[in-house]
Amino acid sequence: MSDLSNYIGNAQQFPVLRHWDFFNHAGVAPICTAAGDAMRAYAEQAASTAYLGHNWYLDLEKLRVSAAQMIGAHRDEIAFLKNTSEGISAVAFGHDWQWGDVIVTTAVEYPANIYPWMEVARAHGAKLVLVPEETDANGRRAVPIEKILEAAADPRCKLVSLSHVEFASGQRHDIAKVGEYCRANGKLFCVDAIQSMGVIPIDVRAMKIDYLSADGHKWLLGPEGAGVFYCRRELLERTRPLMIGWLNVIDPQDFGNYNYILKSDAGRFECGTYNIPGLLGFKASLEMLLGLGVEAVGMRIKALTDRLIEGAQSRGYDVVGPRGEGEWSGIVSFTSPKHPHDAIVRELRKQRHIEIAQREGRLRASPHFYNTEEQIDRLVAALPEH
Ligand SMILES: Cc1ncc(COP(=O)(O)O)c(C=O)c1O
Repeated sequence: MSDLSNYIGNAQQFPVLRHWDFFNHAGVAPICTAAGDAMRAYAEQAASTAYLGHNWYLDLEKLRVSAAQMIGAHRDEIAFLKNTSEGISAVAFGHDWQWGDVIVTTAVEYPANIYPWMEVARAHGAKLVLVPEETDANGRRAVPIEKILEAAADPRCKLVSLSHVEFASGQRHDIAKVGEYCRANGKLFCVDAIQSMGVIPIDVRAMKIDYLSADGHKWLLGPEGAGVFYCRRELLERTRPLMIGWLNVIDPQDFGNYNYILKSDAGRFECGTYNIPGLLGFKASLEMLLGLGVEAVGMRIKALTDRLIEGAQSRGYDVVGPRGEGEWSGIVSFTSPKHPHDAIVRELRKQRHIEIAQREGRLRASPHFYNTEEQIDRLVAALPEH
């Protein structure tokens, strides 16, 4: 395993450090040098020799294994799709829904995990149950797990779909507990992992996850539009592919025989030519994180976000999301009781070259492991005081 300290504050590995205190990895992350180099190398090879010089499909097979390793899956359970939405849609449109089927999620999901279910509701008469956020005993905003399980207990509930980490509060759900419940009670369980994969350990077996989807452009530090989709082996045959083309089948190179038999592994969800440059960039950044160790990367993010929270609170800001054991994430969501948030974000960007975001009426800062303590302190110092 490589040493995290070689990467922290290292502008060669993370060129964004040269000009920005960048804290929006929950939005679109800057790609790391490893990802950029891989894509540059592809551009060179593709221009000079095309497929005659290099077998990129072999690299993609390595990525399939690495991605599986990161989430405790088998390579047969991994497909490359173009983003998180496509993976969730693959689940939504891969099943036959009956009128009155219930789908449970939260009322604070990113739309990628809402609209596919709304479409299922519209087209098949399913009912979408959105469990709302509440204020917990510590004054933090969170969707209580008991309420999610209560909604899932409806005998008509067929599927629960949750973000591992909620985009606007940073709440991390107890995925293992929900997975346990769903498996024991015959419900499907789908996880949007874009706000956690790469920085919070995931074990699809231990967490009893049936489907998982994540693009590489946030915490995984890869380019946009190259993502992974996991489908539990036992569900592969039961999940009809959303898109069909020449590649879903067992012998895609047998062009003329039209032997339409789907692959038995997750390759059945891949319909045609891959986004090779994107996936090669994704491979480089994912393997860098895997080499550093997801656990270690997460602990570093925990330390940085703790520091940020302490600083923000000392300047009079209210922290929104829960931060207890097993609840924290890389997203720090906070509010100013006085200053307009859009002005804060604008001033930080323009005057200080500090990047944070604004989501759902909250300020949102999401540092990655390579950010430094000095950068966090600069952000805290630049926040208008109360
Ligand atoms: C929880 C969550 N899911 C999905 C996405 C993005 O979806 P996609 O990868 O389809 O663009 C985001 C982006 O902000 C997100 O926060």
